[in-house]
Amino acid sequence: RGMHLDVVRHIFPVSYIKKYIDYLTFHKFNTFHWHLTDDQGWRFEVSSYPKLNSVSSWRDSTLIGHFKDTPARYDGKRYGGFYTKAEIKEIVAYASVRGITIIPELDIPGHSRAAMAAYPQLSTKPDTVWNVATTWGMYNRQNNVLAPTDFTFQFLKAVFKELTELFPSTYIHIGGDECSRMWWKQDKKTQLFMQKNNLKDETALQTYFIKYIASYLKTLNRKAIGWHEIAEGDLDTSTLIMNWADEKQAVTAAKKGFNIIMTPGVPFYFDHFQSKDPNDSLAIKGYNSLEAVYTYRVIPDAVQKANLGNKIIGAQANVWTEYMGYSTKVDYMIFPRMTALSENLWSKTKDYPDFLRRLDQFMIPRYQSWNSSYFKGYRIWTKEK
Ligand code: ACM
Repeated sequence: RGMHLDVVRHIFPVSYIKKYIDYLTFHKFNTFHWHLTDDQGWRFEVSSYPKLNSVSSWRDSTLIGHFKDTPARYDGKRYGGFYTKAEIKEIVAYASVRGITIIPELDIPGHSRAAMAAYPQLSTKPDTVWNVATTWGMYNRQNNVLAPTDFTFQFLKAVFKELTELFPSTYIHIGGDECSRMWWKQDKKTQLFMQKNNLKDETALQTYFIKYIASYLKTLNRKAIGWHEIAEGDLDTSTLIMNWADEKQAVTAAKKGFNIIMTPGVPFYFDHFQSKDPNDSLAIKGYNSLEAVYTYRVIPDAVQKANLGNKIIGAQANVWTEYMGYSTKVDYMIFPRMTALSENLWSKTKDYPDFLRRLDQFMIPRYQSWNSSYFKGYRIWTKEK
């Protein structure tokens, strides 16, 4: 039972990370998935590659409004920061006594633009001056994949080593999502690497990266989790799959023998709208109503029918923060959906009208006492609306 938080697109103070952990404890979640690196920033302190903090942790500007708006507008302000080792240790200890395991995510081999800005040798075009991304939705639009070189593999071992020194969790999330193939296809050196290593296509190269890091983590007595795309190639099933797609991907991964955590975009992405009101606060897309979160079957019918229900070992909601510049906006997007998720994951029998009654009576006053904002239109915006 987990909640995720992206602190790359926007970063939040240590005090809010602790408050978020308190929310998890209150709701009887046990895992906080902390998304720490991406194209727009690098958010944990690293000693072995100091430019990850002096360069990768900062971007020169941030997109204003939705990324599909034309023309694109930017705020022109330097933005960023990172959590120091001391802060992370403090947060890990804070979580630990509250029954929360923190699983950190260092997302590779895509979503790596911020690291490339500091160390262009990591990219397929090492002579290019890369910037830390200032826009959202990089997939295929901008080069952000790591080049398979000695420099890169040394780098990865060093940064994952430091990450495991900060986080005692058995599982480490290695990303693996949205890995654009085109930059690898275009690069002669990458193609040569693939030939030498008998990798028949770019999917096999993607798998090579995942295997490399998963095996390295094994030597440190850790296990890897990756987004469902990592199961596209020929990967052994000791790596845990986090499925952000739908039941089709869950069935595919379960049939291959993987254990799966369900984080389907519909309805467990809390960065999606929770109303269809055009005046609602900006979100990325979609409509994930409170009712949809409450009623979603975490073991989808197709998985149940295939007799693979035991491969689903948990579920989680994801909170990507492109359109959440402040902690009050995060609160607005997670509440009351997080409360519905908790009950979904804990209760065999579900009664949505009764949930709404208890929400009104007990939870809304709590959100208010926590000084936390929340979405108020949950009775109007039903699943079918
Ligand atoms: C993801 O939403 N790219 C995991």
